[in-house]
Amino acid sequence: MKDDASQTLFARALQVTPGGVNSPVRAMRGVRDFPLFAERGEGAIVYDADQNAYIDLLNSWGPLILGHGHPAVVEAIREQAGRALTFGLASGLEVELAEFVTAAMPAVEEVRFVSSGTEATMSAIRLARAYTGRDVVVKFAGCYHGHVDALLARAGSGAALSALPVSPGVPRKAAADTVVLPYNDLGAVEDLMRRRGEEIACVIVEPIAANMGVVPPKPGFLEGLRRATQAAGALLIFDEVITGFRVALGGAQEVFGIRPDLTCLGKVLGGGLPVGAYGGRREIMERVAPQGDVYQAGTLSGSPLAMAAGLAQLGVLRRTEGAYGRLAAVAEALGAAMRSAAEEADVLATVQVSHGLLTCFFAAGPIENQEDAARTDARRYRAFWQAMAAQGVLFAPAANEAVFPSLALTDEHVGQIAAALPRAFAAARDALR
Ligand SMILES: Cc1ncc(COP(=O)(O)O)c(C=O)c1O
Repeated sequence: MKDDASQTLFARALQVTPGGVNSPVRAMRGVRDFPLFAERGEGAIVYDADQNAYIDLLNSWGPLILGHGHPAVVEAIREQAGRALTFGLASGLEVELAEFVTAAMPAVEEVRFVSSGTEATMSAIRLARAYTGRDVVVKFAGCYHGHVDALLARAGSGAALSALPVSPGVPRKAAADTVVLPYNDLGAVEDLMRRRGEEIACVIVEPIAANMGVVPPKPGFLEGLRRATQAAGALLIFDEVITGFRVALGGAQEVFGIRPDLTCLGKVLGGGLPVGAYGGRREIMERVAPQGDVYQAGTLSGSPLAMAAGLAQLGVLRRTEGAYGRLAAVAEALGAAMRSAAEEADVLATVQVSHGLLTCFFAAGPIENQEDAARTDARRYRAFWQAMAAQGVLFAPAANEAVFPSLALTDEHVGQIAAALPRAFAAARDALR
């Protein structure tokens, strides 16, 4: 495969951008020596700067649930661009999208739009702290909630409950009010609540974890979180930046039948433009300025272009009968093909699929938390990824990530991916020889 254009762009990018990229994982260091520079997308296919074509299983890390350039989304953006790009004033499109979100997610009685998932979780945590009058935030190892200081935290050593920063620049004090527990470990949460329940402002969780690779919640885990937070007077925040509008129109909270106090959204919500949102119980949301005293604002919040794109994409999802069944079926078909190709090649692999999200761990399963997920063999994944890319299929460019199939994938695409798998698993098998 030609890669001259990507290499040339990378050389230029390195002069003007840290690491040559605007988000670290795009550097693709886990799977190749320089990033792939994308140029255009069409349905299920993404083209790089060298005009190599790939069946796209990344879809911008989730937002493009309809694939690239869906005509309804593109047309909505074009039409809105003809009217106005931004006002810095309230607009009807924000009302319309807020009405859509609150109808799709009954636990979200009021919603505030922001411009990224990070902004959504940052704002939700501020609100939870203000509402409860408490400071401590509980998160789970392996869940990612954006680059919010308090959430860039890892468990302290030994019995220490205070978390430590995972990045220089995050004040120790910002992480000290965070407690990091193992995902799927309800006992650890209950134990913490018994000891320090009255200090806990909120528990934030990815209801289906997808940032350590796909790790579904064990039966009873989310229900237990709901019970434990309620009993302690703490808020339960579902970070549905990935799962919102992807696993069902009503998100994971619909799938599992749980009402969180606050919900964070992003990705699919914006139709491919930068949008995040946080929302929840009216009584809590009314603490947000200007109704309440919790400050949060944004020049481009509720961007008309992004609202139009989101409304168009969500409209297609709502109108398309069986959209979520189809997405889940595609993910299951890919998962089944991967399992059988791995077995055929005699490679240890655990493929976890959940509602239109999937990951192949090169490790024994089941993978239930970050400790399990960390066992995946990154060298095997690198070989697997490269062999798939060489055959025109773009998987997530890091081992502990999810892939995000789109509705643009046809059965023919799925067949093409399946046909490429044997060579990729053979490469994974041979990677350590
Ligand atoms: C679950 C989750 N929450 C929050 C974020 C942060 O969103 P953004 O990258 O839009 O800031 C991400 C990003 O991948 C995410 O996966």
